[in-house]
Amino acid sequence: MIIQLSASFANNIPDPTTKAASKIAIAGLCDAAVQISAICAQGPLADGLGDNTGAENADGDTQKALDVQADEWIIHALKQAPVAYYASEEETGILTLDPSAPISIAADPLDGSSNIDTNVSIGTIFSIFATADGAPENSFFRPGREQLVGGFFVYGPQTTLILTAGNGVELYVLEPVTKKFVLAIANITLPSSRSEYAINAANTRHWEPPVHRFIGDCLAGKTGPLGEDYNMRWVGSLVADAARILSRGGLFLYPADARKGYALGRLRQLYEASPVAFIIEQAGGGATNGTKRILDLDLSELHQRVPFVFGCTHQVGLVTQYHTKN
Ligand code: AHG
Ligand code: MN
Ligand code: MN
Repeated sequence: MIIQLSASFANNIPDPTTKAASKIAIAGLCDAAVQISAICAQGPLADGLGDNTGAENADGDTQKALDVQADEWIIHALKQAPVAYYASEEETGILTLDPSAPISIAADPLDGSSNIDTNVSIGTIFSIFATADGAPENSFFRPGREQLVGGFFVYGPQTTLILTAGNGVELYVLEPVTKKFVLAIANITLPSSRSEYAINAANTRHWEPPVHRFIGDCLAGKTGPLGEDYNMRWVGSLVADAARILSRGGLFLYPADARKGYALGRLRQLYEASPVAFIIEQAGGGATNGTKRILDLDLSELHQRVPFVFGCTHQVGLVTQYHTKN
C-alpha cells in the first residue's frame, strides 16, 4: 500500500462507504504524486516540463507541459477509484468518471507552475466532497466547509503530503527508498502569532488601501503600530508558503488588486483556497478573503477566484481589522 493512513484518519466521516472511498482516492492521488515527484526530480533531464504548451487553461493561465501531464496522471489514478466527478484547474469543465460513486474531487494538479524550471518546491492540491444528487456542479458549487478531505503534496527536498479530514492535520513523507508515504507528524498545530508575512510585493501599487496600510505597518516594525518587526517570505508556490506557515506560523496574503483580472486576486477558491483553508483551520489557524471565512463562501463558477489571507489567528485577525475598522 503506497500510504498507511493513521488509524484515526477520517474517523469523523460518518458514512463508511464515503470514508472508504476517500481512503482509496487518497492512495490513488499518492500514486500520481509519486510519478509527478519523480519527473520533478529529473528537472532538465525530463526536458520541456516547464515549456508552454501553447494552450491556456480555462482561467487564462498558460499551460505548462507538467500541468497537463500531472492532470493526466491524476485522472488515470482517479479512474481506478470510486470517484464520480473530477474538477481541475487544467480542465474547462467537470469530468464525469463514475456517476454512481460516493465522492467527487477537485484538484490543482500542479501548483506553482512558474517555478517548474527553477528547482523550487511545487505541488498538487486536492479537495474531496461527498457526491451530491443531481447535476455534477452540485458536488462542487457549495461552501468549502462541506469538504470531507483537504490535502496537498509538496515536491521539494522532501515529497510530503499534508492532509486533514476534519480531525486535525497530518504530515506524511514519501520515503525515498520504499516509495511509501509514512506518517511523520500526527497533529500539526500553528502558533497563535508569528511576525512573518508572505505577499508578492511587486503588486504594491495595485493593492487596496487596507492592504497597503497593513503591509506598511509590518514594514514599520517595532517603530510602528504593530510594535514588532516582521520578516517576509514569498515563494510563488502556494503549497510551499502554506507548508512553511504550517511548520512555523506566519501569514499569507494574495489580496484583490487593481490589475485586469485580479479583482478577486489570483487564487482559485475550489481547488486552492478551500482545501488550504480547511487544513489551516484544522491546525488552529485562520483563513479569510480579507474579512469573511473562506470555508463559508459560496461558489458559483468552477474557476472562481477569491482573495486569500491565511495563517496565525492573530495576524489574520489584524488583516480583518484593517479592512473593517481603520
Ligand atoms: P498555479 O501554478 O497553480 O497557477 O498557482 C500559482 C499560484 C500560487 O501557487 C502562488 O502563490 C501564486 O500563484 C503566485 O502568484 P504570482 O506569480 O502572481 O506571485
Ligand atoms: Mn495553483
Ligand atoms: Mn496549477
